[in-house]
Amino acid sequence: MSKMPVIIDTDPGIDDAMMLTLAFASEAIDVRLVTTCSGNISQDKTNYNARTFLSYIGADVEIARGLEHPIFRELEVAEDVHGESGFANVVFPEPTLPVSERPAIFAMLKTIMASEEKVTIVATGPLTNVAALLLAHPEVKPKIKCVSWMGGAAVGGNMSPTAEFNAYVDPHAAEIVLRSGVPIVMSGLDVTHKAYVTLEEAHLILDMGTDFSDKVYQMLTFYLNVAEQTPFNEDHFAEVLRFHDLCAMMYVIKPELFMGQDYYVQVELEGRLTAGTTVVDYARRSGKTPNVHVLHGVDREGFVSEFMNAIEFVGERIRVN
Ligand code: RIB
Ligand code: CA
Repeated sequence: MSKMPVIIDTDPGIDDAMMLTLAFASEAIDVRLVTTCSGNISQDKTNYNARTFLSYIGADVEIARGLEHPIFRELEVAEDVHGESGFANVVFPEPTLPVSERPAIFAMLKTIMASEEKVTIVATGPLTNVAALLLAHPEVKPKIKCVSWMGGAAVGGNMSPTAEFNAYVDPHAAEIVLRSGVPIVMSGLDVTHKAYVTLEEAHLILDMGTDFSDKVYQMLTFYLNVAEQTPFNEDHFAEVLRFHDLCAMMYVIKPELFMGQDYYVQVELEGRLTAGTTVVDYARRSGKTPNVHVLHGVDREGFVSEFMNAIEFVGERIRVN
């Protein structure tokens, strides 16, 4: 079976790095391009982190620099969650992979138009780059299989009571992409809060005993300090790890692990309390045609097993090379 062509747009970031690990361990996909967006940290840092991390795991891929800030809003970062560097206190060797000479939007355009098969975009940060691509080059739309996005939530938020970080940082970009007509699969907090890794499972990573697994464990322990509240579910408050971005990539590789439904989704742009909220019409009150496949369930054990296998595979590949 031919490998699925994929473009990754990302703001690494600890859980983005876990998503990249899964992507470059998978035999199911062919990552044609990585573009970096501003989100968890600035564009300078996300692009540098993508190059150091992908160089370190031995990936050979073009890494193109995206836009510096959201379409209208000031950039708000999440250094409290990922650390000032974006990778907690973990230091990777200097990158061997260069910054592409092609800016992200141009590289995405050329990669998509050159592909014989439709291209899947896995987006795990604010959708600034993807929105800019669709506005500037609508000719790519028929050649996009889907945008698998980690972002939003039908219920709850982690940047405000109702808004998830990626949607909150650039709500205008999210609205542009969700109304673009391109197929969207949304891995919002509704599913990412169920795709958690327990502390016991995290210790299995430490037991792998490779330099990579040690680095991953170091990042996880920093990340653990940022407990997120699952609505009305106090006992999920602290002692689990949520690698939100893994869901967007795992859905592309193993869609059978997930449950979802099609809903009409819009993004609140200006609400005093609700800016950045993805308003999921699960009561179907709008009468509008659904535009997003919203994931809400996951086979957690299967999800964790795939994640662990990817860490072990990449750790061994680094060790022997
Ligand atoms: O809300 C979680 C999302 O925000 C993840 O993509 C994380 O990396 C941050 O970008
Ligand atoms: Ca991210």
